[in-house]
Amino acid sequence: MRQSGAESLLRLTDLHTFIGESHILQGVSLDVAPGRVTVLLGRNGAGKTTTLRSVLGLTPAAGGTITFDGGDITRERPHRIVRRGVGYVPEDRDVFGGLTVDENLRLAQRPGTTADGMALVHRLFPDLERRAGQRAGSLSGGQQQMVAIARALVNPNRLLVIDEPSKGLAPVVVSQVTEALAAIKGTTTILLVEQNLAMAQALGDDAVIIDNGRTVYTGPMADVTADEQLQARYLGAGHSG
Ligand SMILES: Nc1ncnc2c1ncn2[C@@H]1O[C@H](COP(=O)(O)OP(=O)(O)OP(=O)(O)O)[C@@H](O)[C@H]1O
Ligand SMILES: [Mg+2]
Repeated sequence: MRQSGAESLLRLTDLHTFIGESHILQGVSLDVAPGRVTVLLGRNGAGKTTTLRSVLGLTPAAGGTITFDGGDITRERPHRIVRRGVGYVPEDRDVFGGLTVDENLRLAQRPGTTADGMALVHRLFPDLERRAGQRAGSLSGGQQQMVAIARALVNPNRLLVIDEPSKGLAPVVVSQVTEALAAIKGTTTILLVEQNLAMAQALGDDAVIIDNGRTVYTGPMADVTADEQLQARYLGAGHSG
C-alpha cells in the first residue's frame, strides 16, 4: 500500500463505472507507483478492461476519482489524457490490418515526438523493422500484438496501460512479449492487466486484484504468486472464469 498521494503516479479512489444500466465497477481503488509495474488481476468479467477504459476516459467513471501526477483526470476526455503521456494498448489490439507495420506506427506518433521512440521499437522488436512494409493484417497474432505495443512505445510515455498482452498467444510468443516489456521495465511506469500468472510474476512489482468490480486485494505481486488460496479464491482454477 502506498502511504501518500505523492508516491502515486496514478491513483484510483472508489471508482464506480456503468456500462448502460449495468453497474460494472463498484469501488475500484488502486495506486500505481512511479517506475514500477502494477499488475491488475481478476477473473474473466471482473472489470479489468472497464477499469483501464475508465482511466483512459473511454468509459468514463460515474463516481470516485482518478488522479494522474496529482491532477484530477476523472472527467477528462481521452485525447487529453493520452496527451498527458498515457500510452494504451487495448485488449483487442485494434491494429489497422490494411496498413503496413510502418504506417501503423507512424499514425500512432503524436505531434512533436522524436526519432527515439521508433528506434526503441526497432530495438525491442527487430522483427517489426524487417516487416515494416508488410500489411499488418498478414502478420501472426503475436506480431500484431507487438505492433499494438509498439504503437504505444513510439511516443514518450509517462504511464503505459496494457490490457492482457498474452491473450491468445502461443507460449513462445508470450515469452517474447514478456522479454520486450521486461526491457522497458524500470524506464516506464506500467499498469498491466494480465491473467497469465507467469507473465504477471515476471514483470509485476505490485498487484491489485479486483472481483465483481471491487478491489479485494492490494500487495506485492510475489505474495500473490506464493498464495494459492488467494489465487483459488479470486483468480479461479485455470483462470477461465
Ligand atoms: N459493452 C458491454 N455491455 C454490457 N456489459 C458489458 C460490456 N462490456 C463489458 N460488460 C460487462 O462488464 C463486466 C466487466 O467486463 P470487463 O471487460 O471489464 O471484464 P474483464 O475483467 O476485462 O474480463 P476479461 O478477463 O474477460 O477480459 C462483465 O460482466 C461484462 O459482461
Ligand atoms: Mg478484459
